[in-house]
Parts: sequence; C-alpha cells; structure tokens
Amino acid sequence: MIPIILAGGKGERFWPLSRIQRPKQFLSLDGSGRSLLQATADRLLPLADGWDQLWVVTASHLADGVREQLPELPESNLLVEVEGRDTAPAVAWATLEAAKRHGEDAVVSFFPADHWIGDLDLFHKTLRAAESLAKTEQAIATLGIKPTFPSTGYGYIEQGEPLGSYFDIPGYRVQRFTEKPELNTAKEFIESGRFSWNSGMFIFQAGTALAEMKIHAPYVLEPLQAEGPAVYPKLPKQSIDYALMEKTQRACVLPATFPWDDLGDWNAIERLLKGDQPNVELAQHICIDSKGSLFYTTDKDELIATIGLDDIVVVRDQSVTLVVRKDRTQEIKALLKQIKENP
Ligand code: GDD
Ligand code: MG
Repeated sequence: MIPIILAGGKGERFWPLSRIQRPKQFLSLDGSGRSLLQATADRLLPLADGWDQLWVVTASHLADGVREQLPELPESNLLVEVEGRDTAPAVAWATLEAAKRHGEDAVVSFFPADHWIGDLDLFHKTLRAAESLAKTEQAIATLGIKPTFPSTGYGYIEQGEPLGSYFDIPGYRVQRFTEKPELNTAKEFIESGRFSWNSGMFIFQAGTALAEMKIHAPYVLEPLQAEGPAVYPKLPKQSIDYALMEKTQRACVLPATFPWDDLGDWNAIERLLKGDQPNVELAQHICIDSKGSLFYTTDKDELIATIGLDDIVVVRDQSVTLVVRKDRTQEIKALLKQIKENP
C-alpha cells in the first residue's frame, strides 16, 4: 500500500512550543529525540516497502521542514499544498495523484502526523487487515479506537453489520459517522456501547474514494481534477471527516486494539509520560507543594520554580512563557487569536 502522511496542520494547542513554521509534527514531544513526523514515517516504512512508496502532503511553508526531517523522502513523494485547506483537499489531491501514478486499484492509506502508537506489530497487522477489507468490500476502511471518555475532539463511528474477519480481526460496516459531537451526544454514544473513536486513519483503493468524493464532495474533487493543485486557494476549508466520512455509505471499521493516543494537547504528553510521578518535568523544576503539573523549557538551563500550584502547565520557549490551567489547554487556540503575526 501507499501510506500518505498528512502533515499540514498547525498544532496550535502546543503553542508556544509549536509556532507557524514549526508545528507540533516537527517537535519531539516525548523526549525520544524523533519528531512526531519522523516517528510516523518510521512506523509506516514497513507498510510502504521503503521510501519510494511513502508520501507526505504538507503546506508550502512547512515543506522545507519536512525535507529536512525526512531527507530520504523522494521529492516526487512530497505533495506541497499552496496553503492548507484542511484534510479534504489534501486527501482528494493525494488520491488523484496516486490513481494517476499507480492506477485506481492502488491501495492508499492516510495517517495523521500527531499520533502515538504502541505495539507496532499489531499496528501493522491491523493495517494489513484494513487493506484486505478495503479491497474485498470496495470500502473506505477506518480503524475504531475503544473510547475511554466522552471526548468532543474526535469522530465517532457506530458499528453496523459484521463483514467477517480479516487477519483474525472482525470487520463491520459503519452505520453512522459523527465528527466531533457535542458533549451530550458524545455521552450518549459512549453509553450506548456501539461507538468507537475514529483513529483518523483511512485506507481505501484510490478509485473507491474518488467515486465517493465525486458523489459527496464534488466541490473539492472536481476543481482539483480540472485545474490541479493551483486551485487550492479557491477550495473550501473542510476536513475529510465532514466532507466524506459523515456522508459515504462505503465506510467500514475494524477495531484497533493497539495502544493509541492523539497527541492533541499538553494533557496527552502527561498521559504519555507521567506514570506515578507527581509532575511531568521536561524542565529543571523546583517546587513546594505542586503536583499534577507539567513543566517544559526549550532551554534546559532555565529553571522553573513553583509554590502551591497544582494542575497547571508551564511552557517556556524563547521569549514566550505560557501558564495555563490543565483543564483549559484547549483554549490556547482562542488565546492565539490575540496575537496577529507569527505567534
Ligand atoms: N496536508 C495537510 N493539509 N494536512 C493537514 C491539514 C492541511 O490543511 N490540516 C490538518 N492536517 C493534518 C494534521 O497535521 C494532522 O496530522 C492530520 O491532518 C489530522 O488533522 P487534525 O487537525 O489533527 O485532526 P483532528 O485530530 O482534529 O481530528 C481527526 O483526527 C481524530 C483522531 O486523531 C479526525 O479524523 C477525527 O475524526 C479523529 O477522531
Ligand atoms: Mg489530531
């Protein structure tokens, strides 16, 4: 299959560590030294059978960053968008390109660049199963994560009719796909026990998705077919979840049982690293009575000191210091609206 990494997002919720030219996929957030983008490529290479079959879609201001971080990526496998228009145009363009180069039967798979995944063997097996399901059913295959709380930041997949087993993993039709529901709806979904979270990975034969986009998102597909990627600035900003997944009848789902996390904001870093320590300290930190907090400095010579503060995030990067209550990190996006240029 041709794995394609979607690496054009902003990652604003990791500000000030993520900036316009250096979004979160370029950062190593887990202390491993490999950025999220590099870690994503590392885990996809075995599915791609090497660099020739791995693609990245990114926005023009990030292209040099991608080249620097993935020097082995062939230039022709880097699709550079004039500007980011969210994931529907990115998926449509890359799928058109894949069909042109490798034919409509070629299996393409899309991956966010902001995930943490444990158990690589199970991850690879699940993707092979999704490839097989996608081919057998002419399906748009998704991977469903067992939800642990009523998140409003994910898509929800309702499981439908069973479709047999693929590499010992049961496949199902998708009854309904709902992107980022309201909290009450998310709670109902969780209580019903029939829903999983959308992992954000999609696997299909190029021709299947193109036919579905022609029906449900012609306003994205047709301008790209007619004018090529130069048409980008005129395309609507919409994610593939709204443009296609909520509408298509061809979606299927396989349960993803490998450990997974969307590194969406600072709280995810805490989930990843905390263990049983009182704080996550990616900085020199001294305190009296502080717990449940996360401290990060880019310059490791700097010291953060706190007294009597619980459940906060403190991040220092160059000339910016952010201090935010842990339960309000989602609001960093709104805060950034107050900074006009180059936050
Ligand atoms: N090339 C390109 N261009 N990539 C983009 C663009 C763009 O304009 N916008 C976003 N991306 C990339 C991001 O860098 C990320 O790797 C991926 O697409 C997904 O975008 P997010 O913005 O992180 O989406 P999300 O997390 O809010 O929601 C998606 O993922 C969830 C799981 O992590 C949805 O698919 C949800 O349904 C899903 O639950
Ligand atoms: Mg995400």
